[in-house]
Amino acid sequence: MKTEVAAATPEAIAKAARMLRAGGLVAFPTETVYGLGADAGNPAAVRAIFAAKRRPADHPVIVHLADAAGVAYWAREVPPDAQRLAEALWPGPLTLILPRSLHATDEVTGGQDSVGLRVPSHRVAQALLRAFAGDGGRGVAAPSANRFGHISPTTAQHVADDLRGDVDLVLDGGACDVGIESTIVAFTQGEPVLLRPGGVPVTEIARVLGRAPRVPDADAPRASGTLASHYAPRTPALLAHDLAAALADHPGAAVLARTLRGPTGPRWINAPDDPVRYAHDLYANLRALDASGAAELLIETVPDDAAWFAVRDRLLRATHLDPDDRD
Ligand code: TXA
Ligand code: MG
Repeated sequence: MKTEVAAATPEAIAKAARMLRAGGLVAFPTETVYGLGADAGNPAAVRAIFAAKRRPADHPVIVHLADAAGVAYWAREVPPDAQRLAEALWPGPLTLILPRSLHATDEVTGGQDSVGLRVPSHRVAQALLRAFAGDGGRGVAAPSANRFGHISPTTAQHVADDLRGDVDLVLDGGACDVGIESTIVAFTQGEPVLLRPGGVPVTEIARVLGRAPRVPDADAPRASGTLASHYAPRTPALLAHDLAAALADHPGAAVLARTLRGPTGPRWINAPDDPVRYAHDLYANLRALDASGAAELLIETVPDDAAWFAVRDRLLRATHLDPDDRD
């Protein structure tokens, strides 16, 4: 398959919507990371996403909607707390897992009784979803547009690096603002459960709900992003609590520093010591260090507080080395 990479002009967005309607695969920017989109109502097109990513077919994908009006088409029930979160935080980096309707096929849900829904705020994602959906309840199924198990893409170049030849069109809308994936809250067990920390801080979720969401237990729905070594660079990566000491043990390692400053180069990146800016740059930084040729990556640890919660989650996964549960 020939992959076209195009600036996200109105013409390119209109073409992308036509390709989606025809069953094609289109990668597009959202405020979190780039998504690999297909018509969520077309099971063959959704299956093509899994083939392109080389992802197992039983993993559910998020359905992206232009606005909350489409929720009733995909979900059979919207609990009041879910409604509150949607009203307060959509469009934005929040995904709600809700009981599925008959329209949500097994291809989309991975065979579970729930469906993931998200209304992204990115200008290009919004324009594409509107052009694609027209007046109906259509949605775009889209996981992150990376090869299975790899780092999520935050630029069109990242997408092309991973998926060139496996996707029809990549809409280039520049670098993603948030830089890490959406926060996922599930409403399948009564009480809201935080399945994945992400772009919306968990403190925001708690503020809207009036209480903290629960953390997953053994009965929580499966989410591939919750496998231990999701979002991993290809180079073995270690988390360093004391970066100076770790460097003494691993002198050839490439470094993602946060407080210990060094000369910037292919093997040393001084990341911003601010959780929002750190998240914005994180995946591009990991990809750059991964490409540096170093045999190991050292990542300076981040504070154990709420503001860093989502970043910390990604770093723990990126540095988990058990290949058996890589996703
Ligand atoms: O920010 C994001 O959420 C990005 C952009 C493109 O929207 N998407 C994204 O998709 O990160 P993906 O597939 O890489 O991660 C979505 C996660 C997966 O871990 C998947 O298992 C989980 O959401 N998920 C989707 N639908 C689900 C469902 N019905 N039940 C449980 N987990 C679900
Ligand atoms: Mg992903």
